[in-house]
Amino acid sequence: MMKIVDRIKKLKKEKNAVILAHNYQLPEVQDIADFIGDSLGLSIEAARTDAAIIVFCGVHFMAETAKILSPQKIVLLPDKNAGCPMADMIDAEGLKSLQAKHPDAVTVCYVNTSAAVKAHCDYCCTSANALKIVQNILLNHQDKEIIFIPDKYLAQYVSAQVKHDFIIWEGYCPTHAKILPENIMQAKRLHPKARVIVHPECRPEVTALADVVTSTEGMSKYIQKAPDTEFIIGTETGIIHRMRKENPDKNFYPATEMAVCPNMKRITLEKVLWSLEDLSYEIIVPPDIMGKARLSIERMLQMV
Ligand code: 13P
Ligand code: SF4
Repeated sequence: MMKIVDRIKKLKKEKNAVILAHNYQLPEVQDIADFIGDSLGLSIEAARTDAAIIVFCGVHFMAETAKILSPQKIVLLPDKNAGCPMADMIDAEGLKSLQAKHPDAVTVCYVNTSAAVKAHCDYCCTSANALKIVQNILLNHQDKEIIFIPDKYLAQYVSAQVKHDFIIWEGYCPTHAKILPENIMQAKRLHPKARVIVHPECRPEVTALADVVTSTEGMSKYIQKAPDTEFIIGTETGIIHRMRKENPDKNFYPATEMAVCPNMKRITLEKVLWSLEDLSYEIIVPPDIMGKARLSIERMLQMV
């Protein structure tokens, strides 16, 4: 009987498929992936690959973004219930009614939104480029009203950096919200020499305590270059697998073991295999939404 990993590898070759995995995936899923990255890196890779099939090990909005950028490819999400609660906190109707109150505003949406919401946005952004996108918008229109949805914490973080108030949505990531300032303080007491690196989806009281605030890919890059050997990590704990693999001589401490995204953890090796066997679950984006959503993503990619 062939091992599951070998069956995945064989099927992947036969079907001309590529496996993309987000940094928060289970270790064994990361290990089978052709490419691991953050939301931005995975979108770019999805657009770049010449494989016929993309097995997306992540959550629904990420697979949808891959499909929007590569409409001719088959994009599969191995568990159809792997959603993102933050993305589900806003729908197109909610956004439209906010926009009706601010008709002159530019809308920036975090990539953690559905395609239907992206279709009503001017610019998409990820945590890796949100600051740059907003800075670019303000470059030519200093007083422009900006609607920034759905993550209130990312919005507050970027807003403070550019010193410009945004019109925000009360969304947040339940996983990052579990990271509390007292967790950081406690970790600092235990590891006084460690650098504190946190994700901008964290609460402002947490980002205020960090040495570095960056996307998951930004964290990996920072750690590889830094002379420091100890790091307190304020994001979903799955990324620590990759950090340890890439930096065997450095030590990593999760700010809290509670920061686990149950949706990211829905993807297992078995489900990756079934996904390749049955071509399930195929991501479909209605054509009228597809074109409009792509515009906001392409505007983002042109800026970074
Ligand atoms: P990045 O990997 O883009 O930093 O995003 C984190 C996240 O929570 C994705 O859902
Ligand atoms: Fe969504 Fe948070 Fe999970 Fe990322 S970690 S997929 S933002 S719930």
